[in-house]
Formats: sequence, structure tokens, C-alpha cells
Amino acid sequence: MAKKLLFHLDTDPMPSVFDTVVAHDGGADHVHGYGGVTPENLTPLVAGTIFTRSPKDKRYTAIFISGSNMAAGEKLLKAVSKNFFSNFRVSVMLDSNGSNTTAAAMVALLAKQKPLAGKRAVILAGTGPVGLRAGVMMSHEGAKVTLTSRKLDRAQEACAGVKEGFGVDLTPMAVSDSAGAARALEGAHIVIATGAAGVELLAEEAWKDHPTLEMLSDANATPPLGIGGMDMMDKGKERHGKITFGAIGSGSLKLELHRHCIAQLFESNDQVLDAMEIYAMAKAMV
Ligand SMILES: NC(=O)c1ccc[n+]([C@@H]2O[C@H](COP(=O)([O-])OP(=O)(O)OC[C@H]3O[C@@H](n4cnc5c(N)ncnc54)[C@H](OP(=O)(O)O)[C@@H]3O)[C@@H](O)[C@H]2O)c1
Repeated sequence: MAKKLLFHLDTDPMPSVFDTVVAHDGGADHVHGYGGVTPENLTPLVAGTIFTRSPKDKRYTAIFISGSNMAAGEKLLKAVSKNFFSNFRVSVMLDSNGSNTTAAAMVALLAKQKPLAGKRAVILAGTGPVGLRAGVMMSHEGAKVTLTSRKLDRAQEACAGVKEGFGVDLTPMAVSDSAGAARALEGAHIVIATGAAGVELLAEEAWKDHPTLEMLSDANATPPLGIGGMDMMDKGKERHGKITFGAIGSGSLKLELHRHCIAQLFESNDQVLDAMEIYAMAKAMV
């Protein structure tokens, strides 16, 4: 059997070590990382993946796109796809900063607890890769989603990007302090914190007696955690009458899902694994 080769194209200057380790654990025999990849310097890299193997062996070559900038990752995915034609293509996965796999694990675990349709959800600091994808997946489940940023224009820009890419409407909102967080949470049933590592976005006092909140999920595993009064290991734990998920609590599914996606890439040469494909796999795994 041909070796399973994964070409890891990163929009950041250095390819992610995390993604390299998970790629090996997901079944890639060799992972070749390229940093600083842009639509402008991409073509020879893609050409090397599509013109080198016979039709029967093409599925053993795949592309993984990563990096800390979601918009740059999305542009790269489009540019990769433009280089494909006929059966001259390989399977591709987009997971900028763990965006799709992390958000899919978080949302699938929440959706397993109770239906999300009609619920009001707030994604705190949702302008990063994980928050943006969590917004897409929550909307897909029928939740009404508010996405916050410290700056209103960043929240608006993020929501416009999600609308353009996925056709769903998120409500932008500025939240820069605890009073703003309290306003955002009025009438909310679910809060998902996707802020930068080591930043507390919501204190325990702000949620423990909240009259409508039912579930909380935090992506940040670096103390202080994004939501105070929770533990990073929480996995459907009841606290103050609400269900909580910490970053490691949902992170084990994230890792399992990420490895599963890598294995899936080598099943055929025509897959594009982005938000909804990865979310469907997460739902099947919970
Ligand atoms: N559990 C897992 O397996 C896993 C995997 C990947 C990532 N993560 C974690 O998931 C979280 C989200 O990841 P990401 O890559 O999407 O995050 P990110 O891009 O680093 O940050 C998300 C947002 O946080 C806000 N922010 C930055 N500094 C802040 C500060 N000092 N105070 C308040 N808000 C601040 C920014 O929003 P504005 O500037 O718009 O306010 C930023 O867009 C991170 O904590 C990351 O470590 C977890």
C-alpha cells in the first residue's frame, strides 16, 4: 500500500506542532509541514499532491490547512480547491487553530444534553477561529446566537463573514467588561466561552444564580479559565443547577474527532472536511 502522506499547509510562519502530532496519531505515515502558505505561493504545493500518484493511490495523499487566522485558512481552502480539476484532486481538511474540531466537539456535547433549537446562545469572545465555527454549528442546530467581541466592529465583521460563508445570521454584540457580559446573558440559555487562552470572560458570580442559563461550555484550558467556578475537566457536570463543560472535558472528544478526520481523509481523494462535515462526524461520535 502507498504511504499515507499528509501535506500540512499552515497560514502561520511555522506549522503547528499540535496538528503534526495529531496527524501522525490519526494514521498519516508522513506529515510534511509548510509555514507561511498563501494563495499566491500555493500552486506548486498542490500540483505536487495531484500529479504524482495513480488514480487508485491518490487517496493516500491529503492536505490539512491550519493557522491562527480563520479568514486566511478559508481563503487557502478556496485556493486549494481552485487548483483541482477532473480527478486531479486530493482530500482536504480545514482546521485553523483547531477551529472545526474544537467547536464541533463542544457543540455536539451540548446538543447531546438537550435540543438546542430555539435556545438563546451567547458566544463570548467569538471572533477567533473556535468561536466563529461554534457560531455556525449552534445556528445549524437552530439556536439563536449572539457573538461577542470587545469591539462592536470586530463582532460585526465576524458575523458578516459567517453569513457570507455559511448563510447563517448571528447577532453581533460588544462585550468588554462584566456589565457587558451580564447584558449579553440576559435571557440566554447557553454560554460558550471561546476567548484567548488565560483570559477569564465570565466570573462565577455572573452565572451561578442566572435565571435562564442552562448550559455553559469553556474552550480555554489555560488558567485562569474562561468561565470562573468551573473545572477544565467538567464534562456534563452539574454546577449551581446548570450543566458545565470545561476545555479538557470536551477536549478529549476534540482529539478523538481530529484523529478520526485525519483517518477519514485517506478513505477517498475527493473530500472537503470543513465545519459541517466535521460537525456531522462529531455528532456521530457522542
Ligand atoms: N480544548 C481544545 O481542544 C482547544 C483547541 C483549540 C483552542 N482551544 C482554546 O479555545 C480558545 C479559543 O481559541 P481561538 O484560537 O479561537 O482563540 P483566539 O483567536 O486566540 O482568541 C479568541 C478571541 O479572544 C478575544 N481576546 C483576546 N484577548 C483578550 C483579552 N485579553 N480579553 C478579552 N478577550 C480577548 C479576541 O476577541 P476580540 O479581540 O474580538 O475581543 C479573540 O478574537 C482558546 O482559549 C484556545 O486556547 C482549545
